[in-house]
Amino acid sequence: MALKEIVKIPDPVLRQICQPIDGITSDLSKLMDDMLETMYDAPGIGLAAPQIALPIRLIVMDAAKPDEGDKPNPIIMVNPEIVEKSDEMSAYEEGCLSIPEYFAEVERPAWVTVNYRDRKGDQQQLKCEGLLGTVVQHEIDHLNGVLFIDYLSKLRRDRVIKKFTKAQKQQTL
Ligand code: NI
Repeated sequence: MALKEIVKIPDPVLRQICQPIDGITSDLSKLMDDMLETMYDAPGIGLAAPQIALPIRLIVMDAAKPDEGDKPNPIIMVNPEIVEKSDEMSAYEEGCLSIPEYFAEVERPAWVTVNYRDRKGDQQQLKCEGLLGTVVQHEIDHLNGVLFIDYLSKLRRDRVIKKFTKAQKQQTL
């Protein structure tokens, strides 16, 4: 296994529409393990392939709460698709490994039903609610080039993007 570098805004790969995955190869299986390892190391509770500069439809998540006695619960989704969502909304303070140290409250449907292929390529369906409901919607957004800051006002979003663009320029110099 290997840790992957996580790209940050304003990297354009984070704004791409990601391509569907045809089949599960051994390279893809290795990538799934690398993404989980990278997510746990960060540490984070979700990671989408474009965040390691690969514009393909693959996400990994673990919304277990170890401080509440939960065991690790890694979930891998290939080509995830939301097929049903609740009318009821819920708000969470979200963050993103590609926008470090920035957090903001985002309102999303309280639960969603997701169709996807698992790590073996078998078709699965999962109702995601609570924290997992938020995480899965955040990660699927990544596959469509959408970031959680897109749900904020233009003023707040522009301020965040400007801050990271400036930081990146300073690094380049
Ligand atoms: Ni994110």
